[in-house]
Amino acid sequence: MTAEVGGTQVLGATDLSVAPGQVVAVIGPSGSGKSTLLRILTGVQAPTTGNVMIDGVELTRLSVGARAAFRRDRLGVVFQDPELLDELSVAENAALPIILAGRPRGEALSSARVQLSRVGLASRGDGSPKTLSRGEAMRVAVARALVAGPRAVIADEPTASLDRTNALAIARMLVDNARAMGAATVVASHDPEVVAMCDDIVDLRSEAQVTRS
Ligand SMILES: Nc1ncnc2c1ncn2[C@@H]1O[C@H](COP(=O)(O)OP(=O)(O)OP(=O)(O)O)[C@@H](O)[C@H]1O
Ligand SMILES: [Mg+2]
Repeated sequence: MTAEVGGTQVLGATDLSVAPGQVVAVIGPSGSGKSTLLRILTGVQAPTTGNVMIDGVELTRLSVGARAAFRRDRLGVVFQDPELLDELSVAENAALPIILAGRPRGEALSSARVQLSRVGLASRGDGSPKTLSRGEAMRVAVARALVAGPRAVIADEPTASLDRTNALAIARMLVDNARAMGAATVVASHDPEVVAMCDDIVDLRSEAQVTRS
């Protein structure tokens, strides 16, 4: 695929293939198109050329509404900022994707509590996100991304601005989830230790060189 914004190519010809259970790192300097690629993978941005196929579904062919439903039901997305909702409890935040998908509230909250205990926050479910440290909030964001058992997980610099311990814990969670659940996982990262935990690397700088030649 490629992507242009306002006539400028922001993502050169890029091919990315991720098997179930595999974790692929997307690396490249600032401005090389990592976030653009990840936005295309989640269906919030359309590629200029090419297409995106996830779990047998061609995202680029879906209507806007169907794409939003696909994202909610089959993708787990983690951004650099945890983006938790302060009006909800920690458990409600973690349960949000399955509450929105119409699962009974009690059931959704108990699934969320299972995820929260996996990320070491079992005791914080009833509290407010405002009481969490940044590393804890990121772990809740990971719990939220994984709660619906997504077929694919897409994380844009999920460990940036975290201390070593939290950064590696979050990367470990994403890798373990990929292995346990067979989720195809893509992680954009600048962090060499995180990249080293991934199975494969897509370097957008070298992709860009390929297109220029
Ligand atoms: N909506 C937009 N309008 C104009 N230019 C854009 C837009 N979105 C992205 N770009 C440009 O596309 C290029 C790639 O941006 P992108 O955010 O994908 O890079 P990145 O690799 O994620 O960088 P970083 O490491 O800083 O997050 C940048 O030059 C950026 O300025
Ligand atoms: Mg980015």
